[in-house]
Amino acid sequence: MSEERIQRTVAESQSERSEIIFPADANSLGNLFGGRLMQYIDLVGAMAASRHARAITVTAAMEHLDFVAPVRVGDLLILKASVNRAFRTSMEVGVKAMVEDVQAQELRHVSSAYLTYVAVDSEGNHLVVPELVPETEHQKRRYEDAGRRRELRKAETLRKRELRSALPQGWYI
Ligand SMILES: CC(C)(COP(=O)(O)OP(=O)(O)OC[C@H]1O[C@@H](n2cnc3c(N)ncnc32)[C@H](O)[C@@H]1OP(=O)(O)O)[C@@H](O)C(=O)NCCC(=O)NCCS
Repeated sequence: MSEERIQRTVAESQSERSEIIFPADANSLGNLFGGRLMQYIDLVGAMAASRHARAITVTAAMEHLDFVAPVRVGDLLILKASVNRAFRTSMEVGVKAMVEDVQAQELRHVSSAYLTYVAVDSEGNHLVVPELVPETEHQKRRYEDAGRRRELRKAETLRKRELRSALPQGWYI
Protein backbone atom coordinates (compact mmCIF):
# COMPACT_ATOMS: atom_id res chain seq x y z
CA MET A 1 0.00 0.00 0.00
CA SER A 2 1.44 3.40 -0.92
CA GLU A 3 1.72 5.91 1.91
CA GLU A 4 0.59 9.54 1.71
CA ARG A 5 3.56 11.78 2.31
CA ILE A 6 3.49 15.50 2.82
CA GLN A 7 5.71 17.67 0.66
CA ARG A 8 8.11 20.47 1.55
CA THR A 9 10.09 22.83 -0.63
CA VAL A 10 13.87 23.25 -0.47
CA ALA A 11 13.48 26.84 0.75
CA GLU A 12 11.58 25.68 3.86
CA SER A 13 14.69 24.03 5.30
CA GLN A 14 17.65 25.93 3.80
CA SER A 15 20.06 26.76 6.62
CA GLU A 16 23.07 28.98 7.19
CA ARG A 17 25.69 29.60 9.87
CA SER A 18 28.65 31.94 10.09
CA GLU A 19 31.88 31.76 12.07
CA ILE A 20 34.84 34.06 12.67
CA ILE A 21 37.94 31.85 12.80
CA PHE A 22 40.04 32.13 15.98
CA PRO A 23 43.63 30.88 16.56
CA ALA A 24 42.44 28.04 18.86
CA ASP A 25 40.84 26.39 15.79
CA ALA A 26 43.90 26.71 13.57
CA ASN A 27 47.17 24.88 12.98
CA SER A 28 50.63 26.45 13.23
CA LEU A 29 50.27 27.86 9.68
CA GLY A 30 47.19 29.81 10.79
CA ASN A 31 44.80 27.63 8.76
CA LEU A 32 41.53 26.26 10.16
CA PHE A 33 41.75 22.54 11.09
CA GLY A 34 39.94 20.33 8.57
CA GLY A 35 38.17 18.51 11.41
CA ARG A 36 36.70 21.74 12.78
CA LEU A 37 35.40 22.64 9.30
CA MET A 38 33.85 19.16 9.07
CA GLN A 39 32.08 19.82 12.38
CA TYR A 40 30.62 23.10 11.08
CA ILE A 41 29.56 21.34 7.86
CA ASP A 42 27.85 18.54 9.81
CA LEU A 43 26.04 21.00 12.09
CA VAL A 44 24.63 23.18 9.32
CA GLY A 45 23.70 20.07 7.33
CA ALA A 46 21.85 18.65 10.34
CA MET A 47 19.95 21.94 10.70
CA ALA A 48 18.61 21.65 7.15
CA ALA A 49 17.78 17.93 7.51
CA SER A 50 16.03 18.40 10.87
CA ARG A 51 14.05 21.37 9.54
CA HIS A 52 12.91 19.32 6.54
CA ALA A 53 12.02 16.25 8.64
CA ARG A 54 10.84 18.31 11.66
CA ALA A 55 12.56 15.61 13.70
CA ILE A 56 15.89 14.63 15.22
CA THR A 57 18.35 13.49 12.55
CA VAL A 58 21.55 11.46 12.76
CA THR A 59 24.42 11.62 10.30
CA ALA A 60 24.65 8.40 8.28
CA ALA A 61 27.44 9.47 5.92
CA MET A 62 29.59 12.38 4.87
CA GLU A 63 30.81 12.11 1.28
CA HIS A 64 32.57 14.02 -1.44
CA LEU A 65 34.12 16.37 1.08
CA ASP A 66 36.44 18.73 -0.76
CA PHE A 67 38.75 21.21 0.93
CA VAL A 68 39.13 23.57 -2.03
CA ALA A 69 41.12 26.37 -0.37
CA PRO A 70 42.40 27.08 3.16
CA VAL A 71 40.43 29.11 5.71
CA ARG A 72 42.64 31.53 7.64
CA VAL A 73 42.50 32.89 11.20
CA GLY A 74 40.30 36.01 11.16
CA ASP A 75 38.30 34.87 8.12
CA LEU A 76 34.51 35.18 8.07
CA LEU A 77 33.30 31.70 7.15
CA ILE A 78 29.74 31.27 5.84
CA LEU A 79 28.15 27.83 5.40
CA LYS A 80 24.89 27.15 3.58
CA ALA A 81 23.00 23.86 3.50
CA SER A 82 20.11 22.65 1.31
CA VAL A 83 18.31 19.34 1.23
CA ASN A 84 19.06 17.95 -2.24
CA ARG A 85 16.63 15.05 -2.05
CA ALA A 86 14.51 13.20 0.48
CA PHE A 87 14.32 9.44 0.11
CA ARG A 88 12.27 7.32 2.58
CA THR A 89 13.85 7.90 5.98
CA SER A 90 17.05 9.54 4.74
CA MET A 91 17.90 12.84 3.08
CA GLU A 92 20.92 13.97 1.12
CA VAL A 93 22.04 17.48 2.09
CA GLY A 94 24.55 19.60 0.16
CA VAL A 95 26.74 22.05 2.09
CA LYS A 96 28.85 24.81 0.57
CA ALA A 97 31.32 26.89 2.59
CA MET A 98 32.63 30.29 1.49
CA VAL A 99 34.90 32.91 3.00
CA GLU A 100 33.60 36.46 2.71
CA ASP A 101 36.14 39.21 2.15
CA VAL A 102 34.20 42.00 3.85
CA GLN A 103 36.39 44.80 2.43
CA ALA A 104 36.41 43.66 -1.20
CA GLN A 105 32.85 42.28 -0.89
CA GLU A 106 33.95 39.01 -2.51
CA LEU A 107 33.22 35.37 -1.77
CA ARG A 108 35.82 32.58 -2.00
CA HIS A 109 34.69 28.95 -2.22
CA VAL A 110 36.58 26.88 0.40
CA SER A 111 34.71 23.60 0.80
CA SER A 112 31.73 21.49 -0.31
CA ALA A 113 30.26 18.22 0.88
CA TYR A 114 27.27 15.89 0.58
CA LEU A 115 25.89 14.34 3.74
CA THR A 116 23.14 11.82 4.40
CA TYR A 117 20.95 12.14 7.50
CA VAL A 118 18.35 9.73 8.83
CA ALA A 119 15.30 11.02 10.74
CA VAL A 120 14.70 9.27 14.07
CA ASP A 121 12.33 9.51 17.02
CA SER A 122 13.49 9.76 20.64
CA GLU A 123 13.93 5.95 20.77
CA GLY A 124 16.04 5.92 17.61
CA ASN A 125 13.33 4.43 15.37
CA HIS A 126 13.60 5.64 11.78
CA LEU A 127 10.89 8.05 10.60
CA VAL A 128 9.53 8.52 7.09
CA VAL A 129 10.40 12.05 5.95
CA PRO A 130 8.34 14.45 3.80
CA GLU A 131 9.00 14.44 0.06
CA LEU A 132 11.14 17.26 -1.28
CA VAL A 133 9.79 19.50 -4.03
CA PRO A 134 12.58 21.09 -6.07
CA GLU A 135 11.44 24.39 -7.61
CA THR A 136 14.38 26.15 -9.29
CA GLU A 137 16.61 24.81 -12.08
CA HIS A 138 19.52 24.40 -9.62
CA GLN A 139 17.32 22.54 -7.13
CA LYS A 140 16.05 20.23 -9.89
CA ARG A 141 19.62 19.46 -11.02
CA ARG A 142 20.73 18.74 -7.44
CA TYR A 143 17.67 16.50 -6.97
CA GLU A 144 18.57 14.43 -10.06
CA ASP A 145 22.26 14.25 -9.09
CA ALA A 146 21.37 13.07 -5.56
CA GLY A 147 19.36 10.20 -7.09
CA ARG A 148 22.35 9.18 -9.20
CA ARG A 149 24.69 9.31 -6.19
CA ARG A 150 22.30 7.12 -4.18
CA GLU A 151 22.36 4.47 -6.93
CA LEU A 152 26.17 4.53 -7.02
CA ARG A 153 26.37 4.34 -3.22
CA LYS A 154 23.97 1.37 -2.90
CA ALA A 155 26.34 -1.33 -4.15
CA GLU A 156 29.23 0.01 -2.06
CA THR A 157 27.08 0.23 1.13
CA LEU A 158 25.92 -3.35 0.59
CA ARG A 159 29.48 -4.62 0.11
CA LYS A 160 30.68 -2.81 3.27
CA ARG A 161 27.79 -4.31 5.26
CA GLU A 162 28.56 -7.82 4.05
CA LEU A 163 32.21 -7.38 4.98
CA ARG A 164 31.31 -6.05 8.43
CA SER A 165 29.09 -9.03 9.21
CA ALA A 166 31.52 -11.59 7.74
CA LEU A 167 34.70 -10.42 9.48
CA PRO A 168 35.25 -10.57 13.25
CA GLN A 169 35.76 -7.17 14.96
CA GLY A 170 39.31 -5.85 14.98
CA TRP A 171 42.10 -4.35 12.88
CA TYR A 172 43.23 -6.01 9.65
CA ILE A 173 46.75 -5.39 8.43
C1 LIG B 1 22.74 5.63 9.92
C2 LIG B 1 21.87 4.58 10.59
C3 LIG B 1 20.65 5.27 11.24
C4 LIG B 1 21.39 3.63 9.47
O1 LIG B 1 20.56 2.70 10.06
P1 LIG B 1 20.48 1.17 9.55
O2 LIG B 1 19.39 0.50 10.33
O3 LIG B 1 21.83 0.60 9.54
O4 LIG B 1 20.13 1.39 8.04
P2 LIG B 1 18.90 1.07 7.12
O5 LIG B 1 19.33 0.05 6.17
O6 LIG B 1 17.60 0.83 7.87
O7 LIG B 1 18.77 2.47 6.34
C5 LIG B 1 18.07 3.59 6.81
C6 LIG B 1 18.25 4.69 5.80
O8 LIG B 1 19.59 5.17 5.87
C7 LIG B 1 20.22 5.07 4.60
N1 LIG B 1 21.62 4.74 4.84
C8 LIG B 1 22.11 3.80 5.69
N2 LIG B 1 23.45 3.78 5.64
C9 LIG B 1 23.82 4.74 4.75
C10 LIG B 1 25.07 5.20 4.27
N3 LIG B 1 26.23 4.69 4.68
N4 LIG B 1 25.07 6.20 3.36
C11 LIG B 1 23.92 6.74 2.93
N5 LIG B 1 22.69 6.34 3.35
C12 LIG B 1 22.65 5.35 4.24
C13 LIG B 1 19.47 3.98 3.85
O9 LIG B 1 19.60 4.13 2.46
C14 LIG B 1 18.07 4.22 4.35
O10 LIG B 1 17.51 5.32 3.64
P3 LIG B 1 15.96 5.31 3.11
O11 LIG B 1 15.08 4.90 4.26
O12 LIG B 1 15.73 6.74 2.73
O13 LIG B 1 15.91 4.36 1.96
C15 LIG B 1 22.66 3.75 11.67
O14 LIG B 1 23.73 3.06 11.05
C16 LIG B 1 23.21 4.63 12.77
O15 LIG B 1 22.49 4.94 13.71
N6 LIG B 1 24.48 5.06 12.67
C17 LIG B 1 25.09 5.97 13.64
C18 LIG B 1 24.62 7.40 13.40
C19 LIG B 1 25.41 8.37 14.24
O16 LIG B 1 25.56 8.18 15.42
N7 LIG B 1 25.91 9.42 13.59
C20 LIG B 1 26.79 10.37 14.22
C21 LIG B 1 28.21 9.98 14.01
S1 LIG B 1 29.06 9.63 15.48
